[in-house]
Amino acid sequence: MQALSDVSFELGRGEIVGLIGPNGAGKTTLVNIMSGFDAPDTGRIEMEGEDITSWKPTKRATAGLARTFQQGHLFAGMNVRENIAVAALGVGARGRAAGRRAAELLTLLDLEHRADSEARSLPHGEASKLGVARALATDPNYLLMDEPAAGLSEPEVPPFVEILNSLRSDHGIGVLLIDHNIELIVEVCDRIVVLDQGRVLVAGAAREVRDNPAVAAAYLGGSSVIGEAGDA
Ligand SMILES: Nc1ncnc2c1ncn2[C@@H]1O[C@H](COP(=O)(O)OP(=O)(O)OP(=O)(O)O)[C@@H](O)[C@H]1O
Ligand SMILES: [Mg+2]
Repeated sequence: MQALSDVSFELGRGEIVGLIGPNGAGKTTLVNIMSGFDAPDTGRIEMEGEDITSWKPTKRATAGLARTFQQGHLFAGMNVRENIAVAALGVGARGRAAGRRAAELLTLLDLEHRADSEARSLPHGEASKLGVARALATDPNYLLMDEPAAGLSEPEVPPFVEILNSLRSDHGIGVLLIDHNIELIVEVCDRIVVLDQGRVLVAGAAREVRDNPAVAAAYLGGSSVIGEAGDA
């Protein structure tokens, strides 16, 4: 079975691109392939004009390509501060710089009160924010985010949107954002790519894509929350 076929996709610096599509559409698979956690059978991945298809995830991360995970991939027995610092060390930061970076990111993600808690003790929303902090600790130019907002409580969403906007405007990071909440996606994203059964169904400016009848048709009822978050 093929998870993806004929998907051509581009992410620029300083833009936020939404990646949506029903459960099983291939969104996580695409992030796995872009970040080097899965190898494509055919096709290639380029970054800044260089073919990186054969690069391991760590090499891609060191070169500026970071990702978050839909679930897990935290060091469960390490505390929150250590989880962030280790991610910085993993791309070559020195000890003291990694500690400073961890402190900054604890503040940015509002996780200071959790700094000394083990990662395994975090509720879903905070675990997800820790995943974002870990990705940012590698100081990326491009950041691929697999449903980072799925576990956030309602009050946690606006500050998260603010962080995304600042990554784009203040740091020029190119962000790929996966989420099942189309309103959030339209609010934050410049462009949207819709995957359906491993193919690009529609791609274009955010509002145009949302209003495209083919997109609504891909989801039963065309409701504003598409698919079910979660069990991949
Ligand atoms: N390496 C692989 N080779 C073939 N098929 C795969 C592979 N990895 C995943 N799949 C299948 O590809 C499809 C896409 O899965 P994927 O997890 O990418 O979907 P998704 O869009 O992220 O869904 P969700 O919204 O539930 O997270 C699924 O049917 C999955 O079982
Ligand atoms: Mg997924």
